[in-house]
Amino acid sequence: MAGQTERVIEGQRMEAQEQIDIRFMTLDDVDAVVELEHLSFTTPWPRDAFVNELTINQHAKYVVVTSNGKVVAYCGMWVILDEAHITNIAVHPQFRGRKLGEALMRQMMGMAVLYGGKRMTLEVRPSNLTARNLYAKLGFTEAGRRKNYYSDNQEDAIIMWVTLHE
Ligand SMILES: CC(C)(COP(=O)(O)OP(=O)(O)OC[C@H]1O[C@@H](n2cnc3c(N)ncnc32)[C@H](O)[C@@H]1OP(=O)(O)O)[C@@H](O)C(=O)NCCC(=O)NCCS
Repeated sequence: MAGQTERVIEGQRMEAQEQIDIRFMTLDDVDAVVELEHLSFTTPWPRDAFVNELTINQHAKYVVVTSNGKVVAYCGMWVILDEAHITNIAVHPQFRGRKLGEALMRQMMGMAVLYGGKRMTLEVRPSNLTARNLYAKLGFTEAGRRKNYYSDNQEDAIIMWVTLHE
């Protein structure tokens, strides 16, 4: 993944001393990822959920972005046959707006193709305009809604899909 990583992060070094890397998530990253999860979501996934994803779920692929070795973003997906499903993506609040979320999503889309994915889907809150803009920029389009999907406020979920290209 190293060569691909270098292309993805090109232009992401904000200052000479900062080293941005993107790599697969390991169990050693889980504490930092859970911290990020709490900073980013009203109903964060518990630690066990990430451990199970990394150790049991053979369809799960999780990636982290590090800045000078510190986890500052992550994204996960399941690839089942030719469909990839993004489970979650978050960027540390202090690192948002620097195209890391976009780079991560592009990385996941590229990886999904390598695993045989032809389409990718995700759910997003109608109120999450930042994420919706990001997904629209990447070619995702709205395909429907799941009523009362989010348990904290019963907000609907917008279901989005994109066709993946090799
Ligand atoms: C959504 C999220 C992952 C975006 O990551 P990011 O690194 O801040 O976004 P990027 O800098 O890569 O921006 C990429 C695109 O997203 C959109 N975007 C980013 N910040 C935005 C903002 N403040 N307002 C509106 N759109 C925004 C834009 O389309 C942007 O492209 P552009 O700069 O060419 O216009 C990040 O805001 C986040 O972690 N949010 C909290 C968790 C979350 O909501 N996850 C998604 C759940 S579905």
